[in-house]
Amino acid sequence: MDSFNEQEIRKFREQTPGTRNVIHLNNAGAALSPEPVIRAQQEYLDREAEIGGYEVNREKKSELDQVYQVAAAWLNCHSRNIAYTDSATTSWLRALYAIPFESGDVILTSEIEYASNYLSYLHLARQRGVQVKPVASDEHGRVDLNKLGNQLSDEVKLVAITHVPTNSGIINPVEEIGEKLKGRDIWYLIDACQSAGQVPLDVEAIGCDFLSVTGRKYLRGPRSSGLLFASDRALESTTPFTVDLHSAEWTGRDEYEIHPDGRRFEQWEQNLSGKSGLAAAISYYLDAGPEQVFETLAKRAEELRKRLKNIDGVTVYDAGGLQGGIVTFDTPVKPSDLKNQLTEFGINVSVSPVNSTLIDMNARGFGDLIRASVHYYNTEEELTRFAEVLEALLQKTST
Ligand SMILES: Cc1ncc(COP(=O)(O)O)c(C=O)c1O
Repeated sequence: MDSFNEQEIRKFREQTPGTRNVIHLNNAGAALSPEPVIRAQQEYLDREAEIGGYEVNREKKSELDQVYQVAAAWLNCHSRNIAYTDSATTSWLRALYAIPFESGDVILTSEIEYASNYLSYLHLARQRGVQVKPVASDEHGRVDLNKLGNQLSDEVKLVAITHVPTNSGIINPVEEIGEKLKGRDIWYLIDACQSAGQVPLDVEAIGCDFLSVTGRKYLRGPRSSGLLFASDRALESTTPFTVDLHSAEWTGRDEYEIHPDGRRFEQWEQNLSGKSGLAAAISYYLDAGPEQVFETLAKRAEELRKRLKNIDGVTVYDAGGLQGGIVTFDTPVKPSDLKNQLTEFGINVSVSPVNSTLIDMNARGFGDLIRASVHYYNTEEELTRFAEVLEALLQKTST
């Protein structure tokens, strides 16, 4: 599959107002939304102002429900398997806490886990006596499949893997891991927060029970929007940790029934302008073409890594192998200062702090890193400008 040509990228940029103002290399933070996503939210909010929040909710019900259909088409599942949430963290926690852990159960995970995930494992260890075991990475920083295979045992209750980390271009082999888990009585949870909208996803091919997504990052959707995929097995055999009047029905004084579909992992109050924006973002992504999106951004990121390696004083986090759009690097300048200096030139980057992925950063001996996360709508000219400004800033500080 080819990457997008210049004309296509020009069209995507014309549909993205933010590209007129900034060189946006913070797509792993929150990407720039295209017009249909912005419009969907604005129209929803305008209508709320006109007729009232509950009333517009009723009026636009079928439009809002679109999110389940487009998400199902995207992830290759049924709409009953989708829950709408406010973030990847909420989705992921709903999945984690649906699993009935007992003392001694083992959670196998990766070394590139996001801080919130690992903190939750530690919290579960403290609360319920589970054991947390990160599987060692291979030479490319990905989960070592042989080591994972050797660590599978009857005590393993959950394999929880971050698909793409917050701090580098690594892509974990989630389908191969799924193969290893086939036929075993182990839950499989994927954190697809950074891969959603970046790497094509297919829950059937991955074979996972749960997969969590955020809207605002590579999907280019609204802030405070997210999704949880829960497989049929997960819907049938796990119970949400909490319920409310939306996820469950109060059927008698001492009786209640939990909804059988993904709704069991939702709550009543929702960010509804976000819901319509998220549906628009997924549709836009599907229309653009997930394979071409990945091809284009991976190529751009590769170009950026090459350019950065030619700048004096820059150390690029490059573990090799297939990599996505997140590029991180170190310089002699404090990352937060460099980020602020770049902002003055209209260039948006972010900082990956050590403790956002503590195990991986310590294993590689990195401190905080600068993160330049590339999307398919970034151009070669933008990368050239970024590299020139960065080089000039580093030269200024070294003299
Ligand atoms: C790998 C990973 N997982 C989870 C999250 C949390 O996402 P959210 O802020 O949508 O809860 C992040 C956020 O940066 C992340 O990078």
